[in-house]
Amino acid sequence: MLSTEHKIAISDARDLSFIDDQSVDIVVTSPPYPMIEMWDELFGMLNPEIAPALERDESRVAFELMHKELDRVWSGLLRVLTRKSTPTRPVSAPRPPARPFRWKKPRGDV
Ligand SMILES: C[S@@+](CC[C@H](N)C(=O)[O-])C[C@H]1O[C@@H](n2cnc3c(N)ncnc32)[C@H](O)[C@@H]1O
Repeated sequence: MLSTEHKIAISDARDLSFIDDQSVDIVVTSPPYPMIEMWDELFGMLNPEIAPALERDESRVAFELMHKELDRVWSGLLRVLTRKSTPTRPVSAPRPPARPFRWKKPRGDV
C-alpha cells in the first residue's frame, strides 16, 4: 500500500517560503475571487489600496490589485510544485474575465 505523509500549516498562502522548492506533488485550492463583492473586505485587508479603489469605482485598478495578491500565491505554488507533477491549475483558480466587472449581491428579496 502507498504510504503518504501530510503536514498541516495554517498560514498566509502568499508566503510559502517555509516549503522547499519542488517538494509538493499537487495543489488543490479555492482562493477568494477578485471582483466578487463577498471577497472585497478580505482583499481590502490583503492590500489597503483596494478598498479606496473600489470606493472610487475604479474597477480596473481594484481588479489588478486583487490579482497582484493572488499572483504572489501562484508564484509560490509554481516554485514548490515538483516538475514531475501533473500540470494542474488550482481547482478554482480565478480566470480573469475579459474585462473587470464587479459581481454584486442583488439587493432585497430575490
Ligand atoms: C473561496 S473561499 C474558500 C472556502 C473553502 N473552500 C471552504 O469551503 O471553506 C477562499 C478562502 O481563502 C482564504 N484566504 C484568503 N486569503 C488567504 C491567504 N492570503 N492565505 C490563505 N488563505 C486565504 C479565505 O479566508 C477563504 O476561506
